[in-house]
Amino acid sequence: MAVDIILGLQWGDEGKGKIVDVLSPRYEIIARFQGGPNAGHTLEIGDTKHVLHQVPSGIFHEEKTNVIGNGVVLDPVVFKKEIDDLSALGVDAVPRIIVSNKASLILPTHKLIDKAQEAKKGDKKIGSTLRGIGPAYQDKYGRASLRVGDILSSDFEERLKTIVQHHEVVIKNLGGETGELSTLIPEFRESCDFLKRFRIEPTELFLNKALDEGRSVLAEGAQGSLLDIDFGSYPFVTSSNTLSSGACSGLGVSPRRISSVIGIFKAYATRVGSGPFPSELFDETGKKIAEKGHEFGATTGRPRRVGWLDLKALKYSCMLNGVTELFMMKVDVLEGFDSLHILKNYPDAALDGNAVAGNREGFDYVELEGWNESLNPTDPTSISGGLEAYKSYIETHVGIPIKLISYGPQRTESLWVED
Ligand code: GDP
Ligand code: IMO
Ligand code: MG
Repeated sequence: MAVDIILGLQWGDEGKGKIVDVLSPRYEIIARFQGGPNAGHTLEIGDTKHVLHQVPSGIFHEEKTNVIGNGVVLDPVVFKKEIDDLSALGVDAVPRIIVSNKASLILPTHKLIDKAQEAKKGDKKIGSTLRGIGPAYQDKYGRASLRVGDILSSDFEERLKTIVQHHEVVIKNLGGETGELSTLIPEFRESCDFLKRFRIEPTELFLNKALDEGRSVLAEGAQGSLLDIDFGSYPFVTSSNTLSSGACSGLGVSPRRISSVIGIFKAYATRVGSGPFPSELFDETGKKIAEKGHEFGATTGRPRRVGWLDLKALKYSCMLNGVTELFMMKVDVLEGFDSLHILKNYPDAALDGNAVAGNREGFDYVELEGWNESLNPTDPTSISGGLEAYKSYIETHVGIPIKLISYGPQRTESLWVED
C-alpha cells in the first residue's frame, strides 16, 4: 500500500487537524513527519474541542496506530500533558502511539534559547511560538541532539547535564534568564520517564513493513508550505521542511511509496507571526473575516492576520508539493459577502519578503460574486451560484481539482465533490 500525504498550502492553520480526523477511518496508520508543539491542530467532535500539538490527529479513532516520526522534534513535557488531557477524555493513547527512537528531543533550555533569541531580535523577531523549535532543530543539524531513543540509555543523565551546561552559557550570552531551570529540568526528567511507557522504536522499519503488508498510511503535515525552511519567506519561517518531500525524510519512506498529496487551503488566507503577507487586509472586511473565522492561534492564542486568497502563492505551493487534489476549508466564513477578491498576481519580490504593508503596486486582484447558499453534505449539487464560480475559478487557475469543501469545524461539515 501507499502513503498519502495531507499538508497545508498556506501559512499553517488551514484545518489539517479536522481533515486528518475526517480521513482517519480510511487509513490504518497516521504519522506526523515534522515540526513539534508549534503545531496546534484542532478537532471538534460533538461538544468537545480538542487541540493537539504533538500527538497525530488520528488519536480519537480506536484501532488506528499513530506514529511520531523521526522528523519531529518532541517535547516530552508537552507530550505528557497532552496524553494526560486525552486520558481525562477517556482516550488511552498509550497503546495507540509509536514514537521514533530518532526523533529529536526539545529540552527546556531550547525554549529559553528561543525566547532569548526572539527578545534579542526586537522588531525583527520571527514571531516564533516560543516552543523551542528553532533551537532544537539547530542542535539536530549541528549533530548535538538528544534523541528519544537516548532516554533508554544509561548515560542519558550525563549527556543531558553536559548539553544543559552548554545551553546555559548560550542563554546567558543572549541575555536570557536560566532561573526557571531548577524546576523545568526535574519536570523534563519526569516526562522522559513517562515517555518510556510508549513503544519507542525505529518507526521507519515499522512503516515500511506495514506498507509491504498492505496497510495504508496517512502522513500528517504541520505548519504550512509557505513556512517551509527552504521555500518559505525566510527568515520568517519555521525550522523544518513542511513540504511533501519532508514526509519521506521525516518518516523514512521512499518517494516511490507516495500516492496522493492532498493540499488543503482556507478559502481566504491567514498568517500568525511576522513576515510578508501579500494579500493581507487591514480594513473592516479583514476584521469581519477574522471574527467570523475565530482567527486566533490554536497554540499561542495570538490573533491571526487575515487576507484574501493568494492564488500565486497557492500555485507555488502546489508546484513544490506535487499536489494531486485540493481541499478548500472554511467557506462558511466567506458566506454572506456581496463580493470577494482573489489575489491573482504580484511582483515576485513580495513573496520573498520585500513587500511592506501598504505598498501594493502591481498587485492584480479579481473580484468575484459572493454567495449565501448553505451546503448540504449529502448533496454535491448544493455547490452552486457564487460558491461554484469561486471554486471553478481556483480550479481553472491552479489546474488541480477541489475534492472536498469544508464549511464548519465538525467532521460532518464536509462536502465531498463528485468527479
Ligand atoms: P490546523 O493547524 O491546520 O489543524 O488548523 P487549526 O486547528 O490551527 O485552525 C483551524 C481552525 O478552524 C480550528 O479552530 C478548526 O476547528 C476550524 N475549522 C476547520 N475547518 C473549518 C471550517 O470549514 N469552517 C470553520 N468555520 N472552521 C473550521
Ligand atoms: P499548525 O501545524 C501557524 C509560525 C509562527 C512563526 C513561525 C516560526 O498549527 O498549522 P516556530 O515556533 O515554528 O519557530 O515559529 O511559524 N508557526 C505557525 N503558524 N500554524 C502553525 O502550525 C505554526 N507553527 C509555527 O507563528 O511565525
Ligand atoms: Mg494550527
